Amino acid sequence: MEAAPLLDIKVGYINKSIDPKIDLVHEINRLKSEKNAVLLAHYYQEPEIQDIADYIGDSLGLARRAAETEADIIVFAGVHFMAETAKIINPHKKVLLPDLNAGCSLADACPADEFAAFKARYPDHIVISYINCSAATKAQSDIICTSSNAEHIVGQFPKDQPIIFAPDRNLGGYLNRKMGRGMVLWDGVCIVHQVFSEQKLVRLKARHVGVPVLAHPECDAPVLRHADFIGSTSQIRKYAREDVHDTFIVATEEGILHQMQKDSPQKTFIPAPPESGCSCSQCPHMRLNTIQKLYLCLKYELPEIVLDEHIRIAALAPIERMLLMSKEVA
Ligand code: 13P
Ligand code: SF4
Repeated sequence: MEAAPLLDIKVGYINKSIDPKIDLVHEINRLKSEKNAVLLAHYYQEPEIQDIADYIGDSLGLARRAAETEADIIVFAGVHFMAETAKIINPHKKVLLPDLNAGCSLADACPADEFAAFKARYPDHIVISYINCSAATKAQSDIICTSSNAEHIVGQFPKDQPIIFAPDRNLGGYLNRKMGRGMVLWDGVCIVHQVFSEQKLVRLKARHVGVPVLAHPECDAPVLRHADFIGSTSQIRKYAREDVHDTFIVATEEGILHQMQKDSPQKTFIPAPPESGCSCSQCPHMRLNTIQKLYLCLKYELPEIVLDEHIRIAALAPIERMLLMSKEVA
């Protein structure tokens, strides 16, 4: 019988091969313990990655875990800004991201030089930046927030405090409406949450009368109008676990459904429909990570997150402020 061909995969900038016969899950677990590495994964990773992670969470949970870990290596199954945040907090640890191209449309929409020019137009404003931005943009911010703690953090500033909120205009707009604020918004969106269709959602609701809609605040206002609950991924997960309903419509990246279904096998989760004909809502950046890349990344300790030390130090202060200001947020 002919031997199965080796799989060629890029690790950072180098091509490496995987023998398709090896048990990747077993090898990843072996390498993790041999190297004292921790695997942190976001809910939007594919299920087989979530299933071998040491911790699965939302952006806040992941940042907290990164701050607490005693591992020598952090392997981040998520996107670049998340791994970068872990590196900002842990300059002496090796932080690896299975695919360096795993970016984020929100981070890409807010280049640091353009943000500096924007900020200069509002000299009396403080800057609250959503964690979905680059280290260089974080370095120009006063405080970082995530979707779990944004309301809690904004609420700690008096109503007359002028604030710039970047880069997600949907999350910022949601906070402005809910909290009666007038924050100046940077015009960025998440390409996954922006494309949920209000029209299709209304039709879906009409077919499932009484079924609650759970939505992430990165969705735009017309979709959020139809939501019964708005929260971060971990808040959506908790709501579905604890609520008495047995069916939910879920408007966020569909990776979260894996944990929701595990929490409540008897419940039904219906993904909210995007504008396109496709019924799936997967983040193309998050999905660049695969179990094969994860294995190679651990084996070769590549690709690694490397940061300019001046930017790292400037970006650390607003992250530490966030962690301090949102200690009580679950
Ligand atoms: P949370 O992890 O804060 O729910 O945000 C979702 C997201 O889009 C991360 O990129
Ligand atoms: Fe960025 Fe949206 Fe993907 Fe999250 S889901 S990483 S916000 S593009």
